[in-house]
Amino acid sequence: MNKALAQRIQKLMIQNRRQSKELTYTLPSPDSYPYQWLWDSCFHAIILSHFDIPTAKAELLSLSHHQFSNGMLPHMVYWKSTNGNSFPQIRWGRRRTSSITQPPMLAYAAWQIHCLSPDLEFLKSMLGTIDRFHHYLLKYRDPRHHHLVGLIHPDESGEDNSPRFDSALTMVARQNIDENFQRRKVLIERFRNYNFAIKNRMDRRHWVRDVPFNAILVRNLGAQANIAQALGDYDQATWARHQAQVVKAAMRAIMLDSDGVMYSTMGRNYQPIKLKTWAIFSPLFAKVLTKSEAENLVHDHLENESEFATSYCVPTVALNESSFDPEGFWRGPIWMAINWFIVKGLQEYGFDAQAKRIINQSLRLLRKSGFREQFNPLTGEGYGAHNFTWGCMVMDMLEPVDMQK
Ligand code: GLC
Repeated sequence: MNKALAQRIQKLMIQNRRQSKELTYTLPSPDSYPYQWLWDSCFHAIILSHFDIPTAKAELLSLSHHQFSNGMLPHMVYWKSTNGNSFPQIRWGRRRTSSITQPPMLAYAAWQIHCLSPDLEFLKSMLGTIDRFHHYLLKYRDPRHHHLVGLIHPDESGEDNSPRFDSALTMVARQNIDENFQRRKVLIERFRNYNFAIKNRMDRRHWVRDVPFNAILVRNLGAQANIAQALGDYDQATWARHQAQVVKAAMRAIMLDSDGVMYSTMGRNYQPIKLKTWAIFSPLFAKVLTKSEAENLVHDHLENESEFATSYCVPTVALNESSFDPEGFWRGPIWMAINWFIVKGLQEYGFDAQAKRIINQSLRLLRKSGFREQFNPLTGEGYGAHNFTWGCMVMDMLEPVDMQK
């Protein structure tokens, strides 16, 4: 990759790095996101693995520090006091962390680090955390053994305001950002009263089986199997591989609609949330679709100018959805980690030209608007946080790692 870009990325990753005693983590953006986030840290480890293996390992290892006794990894860790910055104060019922989680990318990131620089000791130090987290998701987030993991809050998807959650939040005025935030806050307050315990009838409150979260879990169970196998733990490897197949089968049975698209579902009876967001491409990341299903998906939707083939790609919501808003938080703008998931998914099936196009578009966005949090898919204008780390994911798009080791 271009030397100046590589240097810019390294500089940003150093500027955003923080230390808490012996632990190291990276802020997504010092001004706007002054804490540690779960899936961001996995993205950071993936980026760092290209030029600083020890820091990549440290970033992942720091996550295990706040693992709950039931195995959950919280989506936010407040290493420092929450006073004195503009980030909304949320009462999670805990002092140091949030009480909800985020998509499980830990195993993927750990395996990538090992593929670039083999280190069984490092894998050993990660495997327990990964195994406990995956067990937590498969047990507590699937109390009825339906083999799909449920989310208790939109923020667990990592796409806080996505219109995928409007119906579950019973949003009346769909485009109202303030109402959306209020409802998400009320949901947290209600859960806090239950001590965040997952009960059988979660669906009465909020229970979304989200496509990307489950696809990411499938891919990460595969990575867990690789890690366990490398460490000679064949039972665990077999378990993880089996679980990946079981979740994959449930995704196909429950989420795959007759129109060839996978939709997230809500409530007890798997009511499909028929909305086209980037989530429809996430099954590619875990190879949940057949080659011909994937071909149709790419042709009918990714390359469709009234849906996802905008001037800059890939919008998080299809252009022809009524909820599409080119400036709305998670309601249209491009987010670089999402481009990364789509690129990886396309490459799984050999759609190299389409992947290349998204990589070039991502580079074009960085050149035009810098390391911003989100980008307008029609104009390329940058929005939200500055010095946001997700743009650095282009490094892993440009220099893919051989994960087959
Ligand atoms: C926003 C994003 C979330 C991310 C966090 C920190 O809340 O929606 O996915 O983890 O910022 O970057």
